[in-house]
Amino acid sequence: MMTKKIVLLAHTGQVGFELHRQLQSLGSIITVSRGDVDFSDSEAVYNHIDAMAPDIIVNAAAYTAVDKAETDERNALALNRDLPQTLAKLSVAHDALLVHYSSDYVYPGNGETPWREDDSTSPQNLYGQSKLEGDLAIERTATKFLIFRTSWVYAARGNNFLRSMLRLGQEREGLNIVNDQIGAPTPARLIATVTLLCIQRILVSNKAQELSGVYHLAPSGYTSWYGFAKTIFEGARSKGIELALKEEGLGQIESSEYPTPAARPLNSRLSLDKIESAFGLSMPTWQSQLALTLDEWLEMNQS
Ligand SMILES: NC(=O)c1ccc[n+]([C@@H]2O[C@H](COP(=O)([O-])OP(=O)(O)OC[C@H]3O[C@@H](n4cnc5c(N)ncnc54)[C@H](OP(=O)(O)O)[C@@H]3O)[C@@H](O)[C@H]2O)c1
Repeated sequence: MMTKKIVLLAHTGQVGFELHRQLQSLGSIITVSRGDVDFSDSEAVYNHIDAMAPDIIVNAAAYTAVDKAETDERNALALNRDLPQTLAKLSVAHDALLVHYSSDYVYPGNGETPWREDDSTSPQNLYGQSKLEGDLAIERTATKFLIFRTSWVYAARGNNFLRSMLRLGQEREGLNIVNDQIGAPTPARLIATVTLLCIQRILVSNKAQELSGVYHLAPSGYTSWYGFAKTIFEGARSKGIELALKEEGLGQIESSEYPTPAARPLNSRLSLDKIESAFGLSMPTWQSQLALTLDEWLEMNQS
């Protein structure tokens, strides 16, 4: 396999950080972040990356402030729709593979059946709409692309539910967590590992066009935010992390009792059939992934 030139956008985010660590084995990585070019200036982004003549473009940049997006449509669309559109054009110009990340929020969020990639989309908030428009722009323009729709991303670093729970659990004796939104908590590390495996498969098989498409990327199994929190605190206690939270202090509430500016889907279950069969993968459970991430958090916070 020849060494590739990989352009990675946003290596500072949760997923971008892990990609930067893990994609090194594919070739040389050139990072592009907000200090290099204005991501909302399509022409500037095009010219900046065009000059790099990439073989692979990996886009970990996104406007991820779900509630803020409701009143900041312009910036959400610039990052989540217009940037992927520009990258799709670049991928065609350089015959490069484009890797992009999307969200469970593109689906309507009703029912209990896991979504399949070809189900109808119907985002319930502006963030979801902006992510969907990015997916559609890539599908319309690019010929070699992977769009990974993932859910509930967390890591040992960055802004995420795991870190919020560990902080709140150390500060408070009681906490109420939403129990009626169901999905799969996905560590950024797993997203990067699966991305690497899929890119390798494409390079080795030379089937970039046949394998192009939208894929769900999450661990197996589902839980609620309450179930996720409960497992985080059980794991934390078993690993000796001191908590102010009492064992009986974790309560359950419904989404209606925790109003947010942007509506959240109740059903974020993502079917993994397509990615598992196309790339010969078997996704690990969300519980095993949480245990690994807790270990990583402990390692980073013990010294
Ligand atoms: N987080 C989730 O729960 C979740 C769920 C489903 C799907 N996803 C998708 O997964 C992908 C990765 O998300 P993540 O959790 O890694 O996001 P994240 O931690 O919020 O990182 C976002 C990245 O985008 C960069 N960025 C944002 N606005 C920018 C701007 N105006 N100019 C330049 N860079 C900008 C950030 O740079 P700075 O560090 O400089 O701000 C950061 O590197 C995204 O496509 C997201 O939509 C996330």
